[in-house]
Amino acid sequence: MPSARSDVDPFIVMDVMREANRLEAAGRSIMHLEVGQPGAPAPQAVRRAGSKALDAGALAYTDALGLPSLRARIARYYGEHHQVDVDPARVVVTGGSSAAFILTFLACFDAGDKVGLPEPGYPAYRNTLRALGCDPVGIAVGPETDWALTPELIERTEAKHGKLNGVLVASPSNPTGAMLSDPQMRALGESCEEAGRWFLSDEIYHRITYGAVDVTALDAGDDAIVINSFSKYYCMTGWRLGWTIVPERLVRPIERLAQNLFISPPTLSQIAAERAFDETSALDENVAVYAQNRDLLLRELPKAGIADFAPADGAFYLYADVSKLTDDSASFCTTMLHEAGVAATPGADFDPTGGHQYVRFSFAGQTADMAEAAHRIQKWLTP
Ligand SMILES: Cc1ncc(COP(=O)(O)O)c(C=O)c1O
Repeated sequence: MPSARSDVDPFIVMDVMREANRLEAAGRSIMHLEVGQPGAPAPQAVRRAGSKALDAGALAYTDALGLPSLRARIARYYGEHHQVDVDPARVVVTGGSSAAFILTFLACFDAGDKVGLPEPGYPAYRNTLRALGCDPVGIAVGPETDWALTPELIERTEAKHGKLNGVLVASPSNPTGAMLSDPQMRALGESCEEAGRWFLSDEIYHRITYGAVDVTALDAGDDAIVINSFSKYYCMTGWRLGWTIVPERLVRPIERLAQNLFISPPTLSQIAAERAFDETSALDENVAVYAQNRDLLLRELPKAGIADFAPADGAFYLYADVSKLTDDSASFCTTMLHEAGVAATPGADFDPTGGHQYVRFSFAGQTADMAEAAHRIQKWLTP
């Protein structure tokens, strides 16, 4: 029998993508607005550095915490982009942010510990915590709370569920794009520090913003745990590389875990990724495309009766309330995929309680595809 802990929910977006790919392979034209996958490749300098390292020969294991030069470069980024001093010794390079979640969850939480997660939120937080024997506690955020977690909401949750051992926020959030301001981030960090809760901040969508400032939880103090990745802004999803900044007392426990679980992050990706931080002008051009895509969908989807969106201040998603069209967004998405040839993700992936009223559209692809998708949805819903 498979273990009880392996009985986690599927990552629905991956199931949608599989079905979309199956239809495509059978000759259908499908617009992919389901997956959070940047349309552009990694910057050319990164790819060149990767080819050069490949040609040079052996790619050995690195330190479990990552290449010292990459750790130093990541630390320098915090000075450059956030004016925050980070000791490279606190930087841990990981196999994508996904591996950073496993390492930080294991280092912070014991089996049975409760971890507060804003809902809607990225489903893997909940499913990974469950697989590790922890107890994820959803904290509903929505239009009435400005889509933001607050110390008051945490206290209300604790009054109902008991003490939380930690909370995890994402800003910009997937799926809502909502962002925490500096005072909101500080208030959360301070309340967690006072209450002895771990405070984890997923900052994977930093630098993909449309006017608002991407605040790091490191502003709230050295006790916050920050998780980030080369996947999104840097367009390196398949390179499987991310990082976490952790308080000093977690470095050695995480090193021991990383040695045993992963040995080291991918060497080729580490060598190449060092170049990514200097490619911001090319990468910002991708963000300009996302901004165009966002404007296009915000203009065109209302013509099809989809007009109520979460903030989308950052990241590349529109989280749309479709309650006027359906009370079951999963079957709505399946029908839209089969009849209109547009793939999008049902909200239940992000919020098992209220998500059946929502659909997430990813606008990370090409602008022409967004225009075609909007046109197909208009024809489908208002024939
Ligand atoms: C909010 C969020 N965090 C983490 C990840 C995982 O990214 P990766 O493991 O590629 O760094 C994703 C991927 O979509 C995401 O949306």
